[in-house]
Amino acid sequence: MQAYVEKPFLDTNIHQISKEFSIEIVNIIPSSKYYFTYDANGLSFIKDSKKPKEILNVNFLKGKLGWRLKRVNHEANLKKALGKTKKPLCIFDATAGLLSDSMIFLSLGHSVVAVEQSKIIYLLVSDAIRRAKSSIPFISNLKLINANSVDIYKELDILFDIIYLDPMYPILKKNVKKSSEISAIRSILEIENLIDNEDNIISNFMNLDCKKLILKRPLKSKKIYSNINYQVKGSTTKFDIYI
Ligand SMILES: C[S@@+](CC[C@H](N)C(=O)[O-])C[C@H]1O[C@@H](n2cnc3c(N)ncnc32)[C@H](O)[C@@H]1O
Repeated sequence: MQAYVEKPFLDTNIHQISKEFSIEIVNIIPSSKYYFTYDANGLSFIKDSKKPKEILNVNFLKGKLGWRLKRVNHEANLKKALGKTKKPLCIFDATAGLLSDSMIFLSLGHSVVAVEQSKIIYLLVSDAIRRAKSSIPFISNLKLINANSVDIYKELDILFDIIYLDPMYPILKKNVKKSSEISAIRSILEIENLIDNEDNIISNFMNLDCKKLILKRPLKSKKIYSNINYQVKGSTTKFDIYI
């Protein structure tokens, strides 16, 4: 894979990414369908060279997530799903994605091990962490890993307080516009050949030892397991909680 970088932006960070992840740095726009770019906004991904404006860049300081992080006390549903606790929780986010949910957990004072299977998403999120680190001190309570979360969970052998699962679900037609981030994730997973049936990751974690599992699902989806302890419902999604 290639990263298009203009001369003024060539720095040690992009050289390190290039070396560690075998990404070739080029100074002319690549002819391939998808590629990275690196500039003043950090690392971004263009999934379709015919639509260069549809660029995926993760930024924890701006936009919807930046705003949510500033008013984290309004995150009533996620807080209810985590439950009342006097001590900070140790959370395993098995489906890190663009890290929005993990960032909310961290801002509530918890520590998080977040695992993302996609190398492209992992690189975009790692670069967002690098850029936000000095402004968001709680990021130091995060460990981000690029792996399959089912495998790594068994290897880590830590008893987490919570396993958090937010698998990919088909996007309903009426929500396509609202779900531009999810459709970007889906395109990346297609590029990396990582599209899987969401039931697989759910059943894998259901069969593992854990204190409490939170499963985020579309509001109207049917119950899969009957042993739900409680549910927290939002306007479009719900959290099924298994203890
Ligand atoms: C719906 S997104 C998660 C969004 C995330 N909660 C957020 O707030 O940005 C699902 C993500 O889980 C990742 N994923 C699915 N199965 C995985 C697995 N077995 N191991 C690691 N990551 C996985 C996908 O690659 C995708 O990025």
